[in-house]
Amino acid sequence: MIKAITGTKDILSSDIPHWKYLEKNVERIFSNYNYKEIRTPIFEETALFARGIGEETDIVGKEMYTFKDRSDTSLTLKPEMTAAVVRAYIEHSLGVQQPLVKLFYLSPMFRQERPQAGRFRQFHQFGAEAIGSKSPLLDAEMIQMSYEILKSLGLKNLTVKINSLGTPETRENYKKLLKNFLEDKKNTLSEDSRRRFETNILRIFDSKVESDQKIIKDAPKLVDHLDEESKADFEVVKDQLAKSNIPFEIEPKLVRGLDYYTKLTFEIDSGSVGAQTALCGGGRYDLLIETLGGKPTPATGFAAGIERILLACENEMSFTLHESAIDVYLIRIDNELDSVVNELAGKLRKENLSVDFDYLQRSVKAQMREANKLNAKYVLFIGGDEYKQGLMNLKNMSTGIEETIPLTKIEELKSRIKNL
Ligand code: HAM
Repeated sequence: MIKAITGTKDILSSDIPHWKYLEKNVERIFSNYNYKEIRTPIFEETALFARGIGEETDIVGKEMYTFKDRSDTSLTLKPEMTAAVVRAYIEHSLGVQQPLVKLFYLSPMFRQERPQAGRFRQFHQFGAEAIGSKSPLLDAEMIQMSYEILKSLGLKNLTVKINSLGTPETRENYKKLLKNFLEDKKNTLSEDSRRRFETNILRIFDSKVESDQKIIKDAPKLVDHLDEESKADFEVVKDQLAKSNIPFEIEPKLVRGLDYYTKLTFEIDSGSVGAQTALCGGGRYDLLIETLGGKPTPATGFAAGIERILLACENEMSFTLHESAIDVYLIRIDNELDSVVNELAGKLRKENLSVDFDYLQRSVKAQMREANKLNAKYVLFIGGDEYKQGLMNLKNMSTGIEETIPLTKIEELKSRIKNL
């Protein structure tokens, strides 16, 4: 038997209402902040992500779905959206029409990670990118929007973590400090971290190896060595969060798994999803646009994992949805009335009513059971003596009230169904 690929999952129709509910909240809140939707292709040239996210990151080094197409071009299924949005921003000169471009997205992403609860190889993100301003108010806005979306789903067990990585110069100075600190401990680091010591020392903070964590715990902190501008911007973000009543923690180790960040980084964790705690993450990336060939343009953004959020919602039972019901279930009393019922269903569907009937030649009793299962608001009986007199019988399933209506009077039927 052929099964779905490891790390992918079907979203069955019983799951869809939860997805739709989340999507509705996401779209409403992004629209309140005036973000417009963008959709980009599922795959891009590999170089976009390699250059944008950074060669030394886990995503580029170990997790991308990269393949050659028939014309020998190296393509990659998008592991994240920021690089793709920036590519589109540059390609369509979006910044020429508008100095500040505020975009949001909702899309599948692909990373070949080890699957576990809340971690998939095809997963879905929603997120936002604001390109064109260095205002820290926009950094705060990213946190506010993501927090508001998570709260709108009823989630409680949330921790907002923030950090600042400073400007590139600050970071270069800090890297020297970190190098000095780690120099005599280098040989006790894991192999990956020893390599990163040479290539991209900040990535050592990403290490999951316990002995690395122990060493790095006492390292000097980047937030204590910020330049004046980064420090002032960080203060603005903290102030805005306090004003919006969003509790937060400063997490000096939050370097994030992508290389493009400058100044603010943040994550929102949930205590309700097991090991994969990050529901969303983001930050400022003032250098990415020029790295990818555009004019120097400051930008900030975030992305959130939908599967992980829905898992947190399920574990916290944070919202309940009322089962959607169909408007009318048609029951034919005589089997030979199939085509009459089919025609009537067609007329009612044209009136924008949701309608179904039995295609399996089942007994009246079985049809009634089906109507109950589908939570039908009305049941319409066709057949028997009433049918011979040109009538049909409408039953309101919540009140039990029944009435007869002429078969030809669809308008009358519709108004009863809509008004009763
Ligand atoms: P990220 O931290 O790599 O950031 O991913 C954002 C969120 O996507 C994570 O917090 C997590 O909820 C979800 N996620 C990531 N990998 C998986 C996975 N394998 N399975 C399920 N969910 C996952 C970014 O992608 C950046 N582009 C965010 C950003 C936007 N920064 C600035 N702008």
